[in-house]
Amino acid sequence: MKNDLVIPEALIDALRSSRHVCVLTGSGISAESGVPTFRDAQTGLWEKYDPHELATPEAFLRDPELIWKWYRWRRDLVAKVEPNAGHRALVELQAQVNEFTLITQNVDGLHQRAGSKDVIEFHGNIFEDRCFVEGCVVEDAKGNSNEVPTCPACGGNLRPGVVWFGEAIPVSALHDATKAASTCDLFFSIGTSSLVWPAAGFAETAREAGARIVEINPNETPLSNTCDFWFNDTAGSVLPELLSRLHGAS
Ligand code: OAD
Repeated sequence: MKNDLVIPEALIDALRSSRHVCVLTGSGISAESGVPTFRDAQTGLWEKYDPHELATPEAFLRDPELIWKWYRWRRDLVAKVEPNAGHRALVELQAQVNEFTLITQNVDGLHQRAGSKDVIEFHGNIFEDRCFVEGCVVEDAKGNSNEVPTCPACGGNLRPGVVWFGEAIPVSALHDATKAASTCDLFFSIGTSSLVWPAAGFAETAREAGARIVEINPNETPLSNTCDFWFNDTAGSVLPELLSRLHGAS
């Protein structure tokens, strides 16, 4: 059952006195923009598609056309939507606090389109083209929209610049995110099921370093019962309210 939205004074105090706020977001923050989440029963992308068919290097080697078809569909979907109140509130929060790190598991670029700076894209970016053979990023890939684009340097197939199952997180993203989680004093987990590692471990990293943990999610996750503040509601309702309280409105 949902609680009425009450922002505890203790959280506002924690935000005001915080040295470093670290925020981890997942697909739930983009849900209110119209981007489906991965695991929600009714609307999750994985309910319609088997991720292992579409999001592994093996699947790409097996059928690159199918994988491109799916990612082009997702690119088109994401390109048509707009950042929502949750994304915008995080831009404001970044401007309000001392030090701020935003780590996102999302590949949709909506945080950046809203205006967030220095976003750590933990699972890559769906609009990037990368050479499957050499790993380099290719700008302005050639080829028509129905075929598999190829690398102008080596001729190998290009792939979307996202992290697939079984692949390593980009080294700098892993380094920067781990550092932020272990040095923050307030950690927010927003719109993520906290099921996919290593991102799912950041709340614990932060807690062990002494940070307080806040979760915003309309559904219970493995984190919900252990965090200091759990908002059983959507990012688009909680974050703007949090900002308005931080600004002093009652
Ligand atoms: P999930 O689909 O696993 O979880 C989405 C979460 O968002 C759920 O816990 C929902 O309850 C919550 N949610 C839904 N609507 C919300 C809203 N309006 N406000 C706040 N929360 C809401 O998605 P992720 O946790 O992002 O990885 O999944 C993590 C990773 O798994 C993804 O990055 C992707 C996927 O495999 C890769 O593709 C590598």
